[in-house]
Amino acid sequence: MKYVNIPHTDLYPSCLCLGSNRFGTVIDHADAFALLDAFVAMGGNFIDTALIYADWIPGAPKSASEKTIGQWLKHSGNRDRVVLATKGGHPDLSTMHLQRLSKADITRDIDASLSNLQTDVIDLYWLHRDATSVPVANLIETLNQQVQAGKIRYFGCSNWQVERIIAANDYANKNDLQGFVASQPWWSLAQPNRGALSYSENMVVFGSKEQAFHRQTGLAVMPYSAQARGYFSKLDKLGTIGLTETDRAGFFNETNARRWPRVKQLAEKYGVPVSHVVLSYLTSQPFVVIPVIGCRTLEQLQDSTTAANLFLTQEEITFLTDSSAIPDESKLRIKM
Ligand SMILES: NC(=O)c1ccc[n+]([C@@H]2O[C@H](COP(=O)([O-])OP(=O)(O)OC[C@H]3O[C@@H](n4cnc5c(N)ncnc54)[C@H](OP(=O)(O)O)[C@@H]3O)[C@@H](O)[C@H]2O)c1
Repeated sequence: MKYVNIPHTDLYPSCLCLGSNRFGTVIDHADAFALLDAFVAMGGNFIDTALIYADWIPGAPKSASEKTIGQWLKHSGNRDRVVLATKGGHPDLSTMHLQRLSKADITRDIDASLSNLQTDVIDLYWLHRDATSVPVANLIETLNQQVQAGKIRYFGCSNWQVERIIAANDYANKNDLQGFVASQPWWSLAQPNRGALSYSENMVVFGSKEQAFHRQTGLAVMPYSAQARGYFSKLDKLGTIGLTETDRAGFFNETNARRWPRVKQLAEKYGVPVSHVVLSYLTSQPFVVIPVIGCRTLEQLQDSTTAANLFLTQEEITFLTDSSAIPDESKLRIKM
C-alpha cells in the first residue's frame, strides 16, 4: 500500500480509505472487526466514519459505525496507527431540509464523536453537509476553535459547492487560520443517475468544474461511493441481465455504456480486475485523490486494496472518459 501526504497537513494516510457506513448494522461487529484487521494487515491506515452512520436503518443503535470503530480501536490498540476521520453537522434525518451547522451543533457533534470513538482527538473532521445560511467565516472560526481545543487536528468539507470552498479557504488565508484541507464529494468512474438513488439528497457530484478547481489548487479529494457500488465489476461478472434493479436504475446511462468497453479494454490489456481500473482512474489524477471504498466482504477488500498498484497515465484517463478520444495503444502503459 502506498502512503500519501495530504497537502497542508502532516498526515500520511494510505492511498485508499476504508469506509464504514454499514459497520455495526448490516455488517455486524465480528465482520467489521475482521475487515478492519485485514485492512490494517494490508497496510491500510485511513478510516472514514460519521456520527450519523447508520441511523437511517430502522432499529439501529445510534452512531453504530463510530461505536464499532471505537471498540475496535480500543480492542486492537491501533489508535496511534490510524488516521481517523469522521463527520458531523448532518441534518437530522427527519428534517433533512433544516441545515445544522451552528457553533453549538458542531461542538456537540464533535464531543459525541470523540466519546463514540473512544479517543481524545479526531485526525480529520468533515462537515458532512454545507449550511449555506451560515457565513463561511463562522464555520472556519468554529473549526479553528476546535483545533485550538485539541479535539480535531484538521478539517474538510463533504458535499460542498466549489464557490463555498473557495470563500471559506479565502477567509482562512486572509485571517491566518487553518482552512479546509480536503473535499469529500460523490465521484466514481461510473456516473450515477442521482435522481434514481434514494440517498442522494444534498449530495454533491464531482464534475468538470470541480476537476478544474482541484487541478488548479491541489486541494485533496477523498471521493465517496468511489466504486459506484461495484457497478462495472458486477457488469463484468454478471452481465446486464445479472444486475439488480437498483444498479440498473442507478447506473444505466449513455456515459457508462460508452465507458464500459474502455474499462474492459484497459483491464484486459493489463491483466487486472475491472475494479483496479475503476479505482486507479481516481488515484492517478494530477492532484491527491484518496478514494473511500465500501467493501462488504474480505474478498472485495483484498481486490480493491491491490488496485493501488496500478497507475494510469493522463492519456489513459482521457481514454476512459472522453467520448471523442482515439485510443493510441503506444501510450497505454502500466506502472507497478
Ligand atoms: N460524505 C458522504 O456524504 C458519504 C456518502 C456515502 C458514503 N460515504 C462514505 O464512503 C464509503 C463508501 O461508500 P460506498 O459504500 O457507496 O462505496 P462503494 O465502494 O462505491 O460501494 C460499496 C459496494 O461496492 C461493492 N464492492 C466493493 N468492493 C468491490 C469489489 N472489489 N468488487 C466488486 N464490488 C465491490 C459492494 O457491493 P455489494 O454489497 O452489492 O457486494 C459494496 O457494498 C461509506 O462507507 C462511507 O464511509 C460518504
